[in-house]
Amino acid sequence: MIPLVVAQITDFHLQNNPDQDYRGFNVEQHLDRVVDDLLLQTPAVDMIICSGDLVHHGGPEGYQRLSRRLARLPVPSYWIPGNHDDAQLMLKSGDQQGGQLNQRSVVAQGWAIILLDSTASPDGQGGGSLSSTELAFLEQQLQQYSTHHCLVVLHHNPLPVGSNWQDQIMLANADQFWAVLGQHHSVRAVINGHVHQASDQLRGEVRVIMTPATSVQFKAGCQQMVLEDDPVLRQPAYRLLTLHRDGQIETSIKRVEG
Ligand SMILES: [Fe+2]
Repeated sequence: MIPLVVAQITDFHLQNNPDQDYRGFNVEQHLDRVVDDLLLQTPAVDMIICSGDLVHHGGPEGYQRLSRRLARLPVPSYWIPGNHDDAQLMLKSGDQQGGQLNQRSVVAQGWAIILLDSTASPDGQGGGSLSSTELAFLEQQLQQYSTHHCLVVLHHNPLPVGSNWQDQIMLANADQFWAVLGQHHSVRAVINGHVHQASDQLRGEVRVIMTPATSVQFKAGCQQMVLEDDPVLRQPAYRLLTLHRDGQIETSIKRVEG
């Protein structure tokens, strides 16, 4: 049986002006390297999931440039917002692909991929929550796809990563999120962005998989924000997930030259 292969790319932090750096790096070029690498992976990759912080200042230009870049890839892409995004503007400015950005779940090969917006009740520091509407949507989707294997996607990490400054801005209502998931046994994994580093944890039977950014990486296990200085770990990166029919997940991180 053919598995479903998903590429997760996250945290592009595109600037309004493409020549402007983000934390000392040209993140526009970093994204280009990743898209070039993805082009080599297709047609093995079935879809792209962009898991938030697509732009840094919420302006329309970055979304339009992102849309043009992803149009190079012969597969659909699905976008969710992060704390740096403007969700309404994102949908309006980026949707040149026939309405895929308004699609909140994707069902294929025995899997249901549920896309959430975790940017409600922002704390101004980068944190965010799932609104009551969003939690109800998650509940409804898990009921609807109870016979599928489910993959839940959101920007904010629902588990801490062990960095003090980042654990303060994780998903604020993670308890409510886990309470919904606890009522269902079809969720195989949760994937998120936001942390700009790799992590693969288990909470009960649910795998929680976090993915490095295309833009810049944050060093793990720090009290305050420290940019990754390891020559390999600091490279722009993305994640490949192979979703098998039996619910197993194989995953790997692809790092590209910055
Ligand atoms: Fe980010």
